Parts: sequence; structure tokens; C-alpha cells
Amino acid sequence: MIDTRDKILEIAPESLDVAAIRQDFPILDEFENGQKVAYLDNGASSQRPEQVINAMLEYYHKYNANIHRGVYRWSEEATRGYEGAHRKVARFINAYTPREVIFTRNTTESLNLVAYSWGRANIREGDEIVSTVIEHHSNLVPWQVLATEKNAGLRFIPMTKDGQLDLTDLDTIVNEKTKLVTFSHMSNVLGTISPVAAIVKRAKEVGAVVVIDGAQSAPHMPVDVQALGCDFYAFSGHKMLGPTGIGVLWGRRELLEAMPPFITGGDMIRDVTLARSTWNDLPWKFEGGTPSIAEGIGLGAAVDYLTKLGMDKVRQHEIELTAYALEQMAGIPDLTIYGPTDARTRGGIISFNLGDVHPHDLATMLDRDAIAIRAGHHCCQPLIELLEATATTRASFYIYNTPEEVDRLVAALYKARKIFHLD
Ligand SMILES: Cc1ncc(COP(=O)(O)O)c(C=O)c1O
Repeated sequence: MIDTRDKILEIAPESLDVAAIRQDFPILDEFENGQKVAYLDNGASSQRPEQVINAMLEYYHKYNANIHRGVYRWSEEATRGYEGAHRKVARFINAYTPREVIFTRNTTESLNLVAYSWGRANIREGDEIVSTVIEHHSNLVPWQVLATEKNAGLRFIPMTKDGQLDLTDLDTIVNEKTKLVTFSHMSNVLGTISPVAAIVKRAKEVGAVVVIDGAQSAPHMPVDVQALGCDFYAFSGHKMLGPTGIGVLWGRRELLEAMPPFITGGDMIRDVTLARSTWNDLPWKFEGGTPSIAEGIGLGAAVDYLTKLGMDKVRQHEIELTAYALEQMAGIPDLTIYGPTDARTRGGIISFNLGDVHPHDLATMLDRDAIAIRAGHHCCQPLIELLEATATTRASFYIYNTPEEVDRLVAALYKARKIFHLD
């Protein structure tokens, strides 16, 4: 094994204080089979720090009440916490105003909100929707359903051999018929970071709306929706230290104002008669019914935590760890690593296969060494087929992961080679 840690530290002397961070995550001290768990499944869901858990507990312990309606202190405090979280998220992604920040359940719901509300109102027969071949099912299926319903076309930006989006034919794929272009900011299988500026530029030339799936990018790198130039940006709380059950859709105000509501009922109305209703202001027009209040407050605490660390440092830590992991893993015989090879141009997600060992068998074996990784198609069946694999094993990092955990992964993979007789 090559020790690249000194070199890495030279590159970035000012990285995260991981030892201090780990103290905020008691779950990382849990033992499995006599060892601390190396949690390397952050692409699926992150862990939550005490600060997030405590913010939610405090709501339940001290001021649990429904929001917007009550004039008593608990309800007012809950409303302040929940609405304050919208403001925190708005600052986190540099939205023009918190009114553009809609709380949903997750990325999947955020993308469906755009497909149902904007899509049903704006896509017509013969229009085209452009996506890419590397998308998560959550950023594919809603567009398939919309295209089928509207008799619209669906086109895809292809991928190069090394797992980058291939923009060679972008000007043909995105053309005058294109009404919507959508892609993931960071691939959950390959770690690929998409060339946002080039795609947005072309989409805007033809007047198309741009939807970015930020499920893997918002937790791991600085995001500025104004600088990205997109129209919608979707992400999930549970992948960025927040709780499950809360997600975000950011959209440009003028688009959101013009869109019909998605979920109708309580809280999203201004006036209701027996015959008809009018809609509330943003963001409430898109937040029908009692929302996930504790979860919204928890997401606010998660955003506080990440903001305090600094998203530049979060990204830097993951570049260092990914570079180290890629270098260590490159030496393992029979290991195929998918996706770009330069850690500076990709996220901390590494998909791989070891010879013809089934990824589920490999993941089960690593679990015996208390290494938690994911195996499967990662909700990206078309991409897995393009990789000519049935599945992959995936390690994905976050702020609390260490080079020692990477060493454990690498050692376990060498051990697996022996056990599966690849030696
Ligand atoms: C790129 C990408 N998009 C969308 C999703 C869906 O996120 P959620 O399950 O939180 O809706 C995921 C989750 O893994 C993802 O990685």
C-alpha cells in the first residue's frame, strides 16, 4: 500500500478537524463484531450529529405544537423554528429569497413537484425533455411518466468511457424542441461532477428550463444556485446530516409563482369557497398540510453545522480522502473502479467490483469487518447496464470519515481476494 497521507496533508493544511467532528456523532463509537463501524454508505444517508438530534428533541420536549395556526408561545416558537430553517437553507444555497425554498419530503418528491406542477402545465406534444444516462431513478422516472402522458420526446446526454458526461452532441440533443433539461450535479454511482455551466448555457440558448438533482452535491460541496444558473435545484436532508422526511426544492420565484400547486388542501390556500380556492404565497403554496416540523427544524440545525464547518473545507476533506482511497485501491489486483480518476473533479463516491465476486457477497463480507458499504444498482439501472455490470459495490465518504477507515476498507478488499480465491 502506498502512503499518500503526507502528500495529501501538504496539499491542504487547513482541512476539517475530523477527530473533533467525530465526537458529535456518538453512533460512530458503536461496535460491530468487536470493531468500530466504518460507516462508508453516506451516499445513501449520512449520520446525524448531536446538534441535529438535540434540536429535534428540544422541539418535542419544550415546544411541540403545530405551526402557523396557534397564537400561544409553543406554536409561535415552532413556527419560528420551521420558517427559520427556510431562511438558513436559502443562505446555504444562496437563493434570492427564502420564499423560493420549498420543503418537501426528499429529492424524489422535489423532482416530482417540478414534473407534476411545471411539467403538466408547460410540456406539450412534440416537445422534448433532455436528461442523461447516469441519472438516479428519481430523476428519470418522473420525466418518463411526464413524457408518456404528454406524448413528448425524451433524449439523453451520453457518457464517456471514463464516466463523464459526453457533450460532443450537446447542440443536437438540446435543440429548439427542448423545453426542459435535467441532470444530477454529482452522480451517486460514479461520483462524476457534471459540467453544469456548459449544459446550462446550451439549455438557455434554446429557452429550456434547467432542473438540477443536487441530492449528492448539496451535502458535499458549496452550492450557489444563482451562480449555477439553473431554474430548479432539488436535495434531501438525510444525506446532509439532517433527518429523513425533509427535502428541499429551490425554484426561481417567477416560475414558482406561475406554477399550479402540487399537493392541495390545508395551509396552501389563501381563500376557500365551496366552489373554488386561491393559493397562499410562496413557499406555503407548495407545502400543503401539516409539514414535517421537527424534521424542518433538524434540517436547519444540520445546515448550521455544515455552515460552521465551511462547505469549502467539507469539499476539500472529501477530495483528500477520495484521492487517498483511489490511490490505495488502484493497487488492488482484480479491482475495477468506475468513474473519473481525478479526485478534484469528482465526489467522494467510489463504485467498484472485485473480479466476478457478486457485490452483495463482497458487502456481506465487509460487514463482518464492521465496514458498512452499499451493493446493488444504486437506483441507477440504466447506468449499471452501461457499465456492463449487474451491480457494483460502493463506498461513499463524509466529513467524519478518516484515512484509517479507508485503510480498513483496502485491507478488507485484500482479504476478500483471498477468501474468494482470486489470489
Ligand atoms: C443522485 C440522487 N438523486 C436522487 C436521489 C433520491 O433521494 P431521496 O431518496 O432522498 O429522495 C438520490 C438518493 O440516493 C441520489 O443519490
